[in-house]
Amino acid sequence: MGKLDNKVAVVTGATEGIGLAIAKTFVHEGAFVFITGRREKELAEAVDQLGPMAVGVQGDVAKIADIVRLYDRVAQQKGHLDIVVANAGLGDVMPLAKVDESFFDRLFDVNVKGAFFTLQQSLPLLRNGASLIITGSVAGSKGTPGLGIYGATKAAVRSFVRTLTAELADRGIRANVLSPGPIQTPLMDRQPAETLHRMVSTIPMGRIGNVDEVAKAALFLASDDSSFTTGAEIFVDGGRAQV
Ligand SMILES: NC(=O)c1ccc[n+]([C@@H]2O[C@H](COP(=O)([O-])OP(=O)(O)OC[C@H]3O[C@@H](n4cnc5c(N)ncnc54)[C@H](OP(=O)(O)O)[C@@H]3O)[C@@H](O)[C@H]2O)c1
Repeated sequence: MGKLDNKVAVVTGATEGIGLAIAKTFVHEGAFVFITGRREKELAEAVDQLGPMAVGVQGDVAKIADIVRLYDRVAQQKGHLDIVVANAGLGDVMPLAKVDESFFDRLFDVNVKGAFFTLQQSLPLLRNGASLIITGSVAGSKGTPGLGIYGATKAAVRSFVRTLTAELADRGIRANVLSPGPIQTPLMDRQPAETLHRMVSTIPMGRIGNVDEVAKAALFLASDDSSFTTGAEIFVDGGRAQV
C-alpha cells in the first residue's frame, strides 16, 4: 500500500530536476500525477518515465490561461485534486546593481505570480484535507550575492503559505513551503562555478543535496504523515540556512 493511494496530484515544472523526482515519488506511492512544463518534447519524455499514472499538460505558469487549461484537464479527467506542488521556478543570478526590469519581471512572473495562481486556481478542485506545497529556497532566508531577486521571490511565496494556512484551515487544507538548499539539478548546472563554490562552502554538511532527498520531504508534506504540519517551511539544505 502506498502513502498516496487514490490521491490526485499536480506538480508544476516536473520535466526534470526536483519536480520530476517529486512526481516519481508520488507515482511510486500510488498517486495519479499531472505534470507540467513549457517544452513539449521534455514533457513527453518525463511522462514516458513516469508511466500510466501520469499525464503531461504543457504550459507556462507565468500565463494564467495555461494554468486554467491545466485545471480544466484535471477537472475533466479526475474531477478533484488532493495535492498541488507549485514547483516551477527560475533561479537566474544577477547582482542587484545590474538587475533590469525584464530580469525582475521574469523571475517574479514565474516564481511568484506563477506559484500564486497555480495554488489559487486549484482551490475549487481541492478536496477537504488537501495538501498544498510551494517549492521555496534557502535563498528566501539568506543574503547571497547574485541571488537578491531570486531570494525575494522565495520570501514572497513563504508569505503566501502563511495566509493560505489561515484562510484554508477550515477546509482541512494544509499549506507548506519546501525549501531546498543547493540541489544537483539542471538549474544548478547553469549556475556560475564561483556561485556554486561559495554556496557549498556555507553548507555544514559540506555537499550539494540530491533530488531524492527533496522528494522524500515532499512526500512527507503531501501525505497524512504531516497531518499536523501547516504554515511551515521545511528545509532540505544540509543545514545551510540553519546556522
Ligand atoms: N536546484 C536547486 O538547488 C534549488 C534550490 C532551491 C530551490 N530550488 C527550486 O526548486 C524548483 C525546481 O528547481 P530545479 O532545480 O529542479 O530546476 P530545473 O532543473 O531548472 O527544472 C525546472 C523545471 O521547471 C520547468 N519550468 C521552468 N519554468 C517554467 C514555467 N514558466 N512554467 C512551467 N514550467 C516551468 C522546467 O521545464 P521547462 O523548461 O520545459 O518549462 C523544468 O521542468 C524551483 O522552484 C527552484 O527555485 C531549486
